[in-house]
Amino acid sequence: MLLHLHLYLPVLAFIGLVHANNGSVTDYAPLINQPCPNVTTDPLVRVFSPRNQSLHPREEAYVNTRLTTVIPNEWKNWVGDGSAIGYNLSSFNNSFPKIGLAISGGGYRAAQYGAGVLSALDARNESAKAAGTGGFLQVSSYLSGLSGGSWITGSLYMNDFPTIKDLVYGNGGNLSGWLLDLALATPDGSNIFSDANQHWYGSILWSVIAKGKTGIDTSLTDPWARMISYHFLNQTNRNDFFTNDSAHGAGQLWSNVPLIPSWQQHLVPFPIIQTDSRPVGSNLTTSLSPTAVVYEITPMEMGSWDPNLSAMMNLTYIGTHLTDGEPDNDTTCVTGFDETGFMMGTSASLFNQILDFAHNTIQGFDNNDAKSILLMLNRQLSELRTRANDVANWPSPFHNLTGKDNFEDLSSKWLELIDGASNHENVPLGQHFVKARGMDVVVGIDASADLHTGWPNGSSPYLSAARITDLLQSSHQPAPPLPGNTAEFVSTGVNMRPTFFGCFPTQNPPEYPIMIYFPNSPPLNGDNPVSNTGTFKLDYTPKHTQLFLDQVHANVIGGFVPNSNSPDPNFGKCLQCVAIDRARYRVNPVLARSEFCSACFQQYCFDPNNLTSSAQLPGRKLAFVDPDPQGVSAVTGFLSQSKVPIILGFVGAALIIAAISAFLIWRKRRQMRTAVYQKVIELHDEDEPPFIQHNRYSDGPRSASSYELERVQGLSHAPGQHF
Ligand SMILES: *[C@@H]1O[C@H](CO)[C@@H](O)[C@H](O)[C@H]1NC(C)=O
Ligand SMILES: *[C@@H]1O[C@H](CO)[C@@H](O)[C@H](O)[C@H]1NC(C)=O
Ligand SMILES: *[C@@H]1O[C@H](CO)[C@@H](O)[C@H](O)[C@H]1NC(C)=O
Ligand SMILES: *[C@@H]1O[C@H](CO)[C@@H](O)[C@H](O)[C@H]1NC(C)=O
Ligand SMILES: *[C@@H]1O[C@H](CO)[C@@H](O)[C@H](O)[C@H]1NC(C)=O
Ligand SMILES: *[C@@H]1O[C@H](CO)[C@@H](O)[C@H](O)[C@H]1NC(C)=O
Ligand SMILES: *[C@@H]1O[C@H](CO)[C@@H](O)[C@H](O)[C@H]1NC(C)=O
Ligand SMILES: *[C@@H]1O[C@H](CO)[C@@H](O)[C@H](O)[C@H]1NC(C)=O
Ligand SMILES: *[C@@H]1O[C@H](CO)[C@@H](O)[C@H](O)[C@H]1NC(C)=O
Ligand SMILES: *[C@@H]1O[C@H](CO)[C@@H](O)[C@H](O)[C@H]1NC(C)=O
Ligand SMILES: *[C@@H]1O[C@H](CO)[C@@H](O)[C@H](O)[C@H]1NC(C)=O
Ligand SMILES: *[C@@H]1O[C@H](CO)[C@@H](O)[C@H](O)[C@H]1NC(C)=O
Repeated sequence: MLLHLHLYLPVLAFIGLVHANNGSVTDYAPLINQPCPNVTTDPLVRVFSPRNQSLHPREEAYVNTRLTTVIPNEWKNWVGDGSAIGYNLSSFNNSFPKIGLAISGGGYRAAQYGAGVLSALDARNESAKAAGTGGFLQVSSYLSGLSGGSWITGSLYMNDFPTIKDLVYGNGGNLSGWLLDLALATPDGSNIFSDANQHWYGSILWSVIAKGKTGIDTSLTDPWARMISYHFLNQTNRNDFFTNDSAHGAGQLWSNVPLIPSWQQHLVPFPIIQTDSRPVGSNLTTSLSPTAVVYEITPMEMGSWDPNLSAMMNLTYIGTHLTDGEPDNDTTCVTGFDETGFMMGTSASLFNQILDFAHNTIQGFDNNDAKSILLMLNRQLSELRTRANDVANWPSPFHNLTGKDNFEDLSSKWLELIDGASNHENVPLGQHFVKARGMDVVVGIDASADLHTGWPNGSSPYLSAARITDLLQSSHQPAPPLPGNTAEFVSTGVNMRPTFFGCFPTQNPPEYPIMIYFPNSPPLNGDNPVSNTGTFKLDYTPKHTQLFLDQVHANVIGGFVPNSNSPDPNFGKCLQCVAIDRARYRVNPVLARSEFCSACFQQYCFDPNNLTSSAQLPGRKLAFVDPDPQGVSAVTGFLSQSKVPIILGFVGAALIIAAISAFLIWRKRRQMRTAVYQKVIELHDEDEPPFIQHNRYSDGPRSASSYELERVQGLSHAPGQHF
């Protein structure tokens, strides 16, 4: 076995050597040709029908154990005996609602918004605890994220679910924080030719090449995944950011979440990452139609509850090509594909949609600096074999699956996965409505930037509800009543303050879960907002991050008082009311809603028959005001020295991504001028850091016409090899 790997894949032998210490960035490479389980006795794919779903047994066991052993005590910790909200906690008979939280996309903005909301719901935060909101997180059963929301989700679990404060800012010990001031695509500043940036690009490329050498197709999602890992996974601190002293999160697997101590004690919700798919062959560069399959990735499995698929693949072996559930032979399995960084990168893989935009950008891009970026990237990307450059390439486990004739990618051996919000459902609500999960309460944490001022207008929950109604009736619970359109979200003001939906069911059990909506919204006290930043703002000063989190925290614990700029001292208790409300229906006879909670519901519930008005939210300031302009001008000063004034912050980060994307198209469409290409290769070689010279990821320059690695080409032509 090892010998076999040796022959084809010398890079893997190298991984073996460095595994002994802190790991290597090449741990990013999955292992191929692994022994497969006997699928006759231990199937890798689990199929079900929408009307007869089942959860993975380990998901069910985890959630139920937590619900019956941990959560009842957490309820007591949170609401005491319940008398403050007009109930006797004992009367609920220890049968508590199943609660799920969903964190939206929106890049660093969404990750920070999610962090601010979670800290305000966390009993470990003293001001949240004092306000009565802290404790909600402890009684929750599920936590899902997509795109930027998947970054905080992944970060929480791969760091053993610390407090938000420790996670984001670091704890001076084993947690070093998110380091958001080191820009995502240009951590050493906007000069991409600086030594540190060049070393770093080299490390990233080294990871991606290691994966590519296994024969698995990579894409722009892979370097992107590595960039994300430096911030959101452990093993990176300010001192070793630009070194290769550690794996920088490479090789940390999502299927290993059950190994973390807080999981083993059932202290944390069950996590889910959402990603969308582009129908293979469609080459779509626009947003998706709602029919495109929406996938989820849990620590147990990857697949979809959408009626047309209704199948799940064992996550440990994801990356393995299966035909009708079977591998090609019993040693063609792949493990280690479920890299947490790659899961987060897949969920945030928005490149197919910014390609056109990028192409326009590049058309207007006539200064030498911009050309330099493209040419440098040319060298880097010429190492990568890709099938679809602009999506995450996943070997399909669902190819030719019996009984799934309506699955749109049935005939494809690959899946093209893209940003979890590509169908405009920016909050991953769908997973929480899956019937088998039996959710009672769903929380939408929405940092969408729908309005030109950077705030959400409800389009995400609106479209999730529409998808449920139109396509998912057999597999999902109905959505609660929402405003009839986004204009109504705005005119009623429910996009600007915490709102409860589905408060007044007419059946028992209730016909839909109750939904709590926390939209990113202007400070209730009339302060200038700092949380409505751009999606492509890929660096934040520590001061901005702190003000961002504190502002979100204040809004979440403060609720709202109609016609006022004061926080609602009762909001914490109102949140307790809505969290426990569905438990009333399980008691026989049904317990009446308390007077206190009824008053809360009057204030916070959306009632389609009695619409509120945004005029009840006076004095909110909508326009973003940079809270730390000093940080920006310091960078600007640096920039004017280094003669690349365009490449900065908002524009700069977008530009880098755009440039990478645009380059991919550009490369497809025209022959490059070889002379210039060569020159940049030389330039890049001079800049190569020593670690790359000693452990080169390639053995020499390759022909400009070949974008495939030699070894990969060899493999792909070998009989029986399917990558
Ligand atoms: C797989 O398990 C089945 C049922 O026990 C058995 O008949 C078959 O021989 C096994 N296949 C292999 C390759 O071991
Ligand atoms: C539903 O699925 C279970 C296994 O998950 C199976 O035992 C049962 O027969 C199925 N019921 C129907 C009606 O298909
Ligand atoms: C709550 O209910 C329990 C059990 O029915 C009872 O023993 C207890 O006295 C009640 N508490 C209050 C404050 O009424
Ligand atoms: C980093 O995370 C991994 C996966 O959760 C864990 O095994 C490891 O102990 C962590 N390392 C540190 C230094 O926290
Ligand atoms: C491993 O990491 C530790 C600290 O994280 C560092 O001090 C040490 O030098 C590293 N070892 C190697 C071989 O890189
Ligand atoms: C998508 O792109 C592939 C490869 O470039 C091409 O073969 C195929 O025809 C394209 N499909 C459509 C629908 O344009
Ligand atoms: C994946 O498959 C392996 C081998 O059959 C099995 O041991 C493991 O429990 C499976 N994992 C899950 C989450 O089903
Ligand atoms: C997949 O199914 C198609 C259509 O039935 C068939 O033509 C093809 O041979 C199958 N592929 C494999 C690898 O079984
Ligand atoms: C609680 O949250 C507030 C607001 O973000 C923050 O200032 C404080 O440091 C947090 N405390 C802890 C213990 O996390
Ligand atoms: C409490 O739970 C038990 C066991 O599930 C059940 O038998 C009993 O009817 C429940 N009591 C009430 C008042 O709902
Ligand atoms: C409508 O809601 C307002 C509070 O928003 C409340 O004062 C009023 O009584 C409600 N009217 C009806 C008919 O429910
Ligand atoms: C399984 O497939 C691999 C790759 O195609 C091949 O090298 C190997 O010989 C096959 N093994 C068996 C037992 O057929």
